[in-house]
Amino acid sequence: MIMFNFSKFLLKACDEINSIKDYVELDSLRIKYLGKNSFLNFQFKEMIKLDKQDRIKLGSILNRVKNSLLKIISRRKSKLDYLFCKNDLFLKNKIDISLPGRQIRNGSLHPINIIINLSKIFFSSLGFSYVFGPEIEDYYHNFDALNIPYGHPSRSKKDTFWFNNKYLLRTQTSSVQIRFMKKTSPPIRFISLGRVYRNDCDRLHTPMFHQIEGVMVDKNISISNLKWIIINFLRALFINKKYYIRFRPSYFPFTEPSIEVDIKINNSKWLEILGCGMIHTNVLSNVNIDSNIYSGFAFGIGVERLTMLYYNIKDLRVLFENDIRFLKQFK
Ligand code: DAH
Repeated sequence: MIMFNFSKFLLKACDEINSIKDYVELDSLRIKYLGKNSFLNFQFKEMIKLDKQDRIKLGSILNRVKNSLLKIISRRKSKLDYLFCKNDLFLKNKIDISLPGRQIRNGSLHPINIIINLSKIFFSSLGFSYVFGPEIEDYYHNFDALNIPYGHPSRSKKDTFWFNNKYLLRTQTSSVQIRFMKKTSPPIRFISLGRVYRNDCDRLHTPMFHQIEGVMVDKNISISNLKWIIINFLRALFINKKYYIRFRPSYFPFTEPSIEVDIKINNSKWLEILGCGMIHTNVLSNVNIDSNIYSGFAFGIGVERLTMLYYNIKDLRVLFENDIRFLKQFK
């Protein structure tokens, strides 16, 4: 076997590798000396043609040459790293660790959620539980069972978002009264809150808004219990404000008598914020509660109205425009 002069080959490669000034060139030399088409690889492949003894001899030489080349390349890479750290490019790109970091801003609660949370705290402190009702309702729960007669305007196609003859987007959370009361028996004390939908849009109305529905049914429940709760709820919420409230006789098909509550803050105009009343005996019998034994009250609070008053917001629509400059004011 004629032995190729590998020491000379290695010396030449070493000179070449050590003269390299950047990573790209270094990588092309690595391919040249160790890659698939390299001379060394060719020698490895040729080994099969040799007899066993020569193969062992050449194999060990080739492996030593290969390892030396790897070492030379890796040393050169470390050297390049060092040179790179020292040169201008690095200095220009260096990180100024004294600069302040990018802030991750905390999100804030939507004002409507703040009012909802405050309301939940108040009612749960009085032992009201919280129940959930669906936003897609049927006419029975939204109207019929609540004693709302067939021709009532709130059922019309103009005011209500109907899916078909049976299903609609609920127009009021009062539908949850029926769903919950028919499942349980008195004493009953719960609130339910969520989105309701009506085809309405101006400074004080949006097609979607939120209501808090409250119900209490037991023996000897009277209108004075209802008044106490409403008065104290508003007192807790508007603790820092000077306000007047008035209870005004009204009409709802599902309560008798029915009342609307208006509020006036800082000499503004009266604004209606909730409807309430003693639950109509027809409604109680629709959910199999004996009105000779039990009585109850219900109320439905407009959350957006409360939010406007709480934060002194004049146009309800800003609550839904998702303008981050507006929203980030609320903590
Ligand atoms: N559901 C009524 C509405 O959307 C509000 C309401 C009035 C709810 C009287 C009640 C109630 O529970 O007793 O206008």
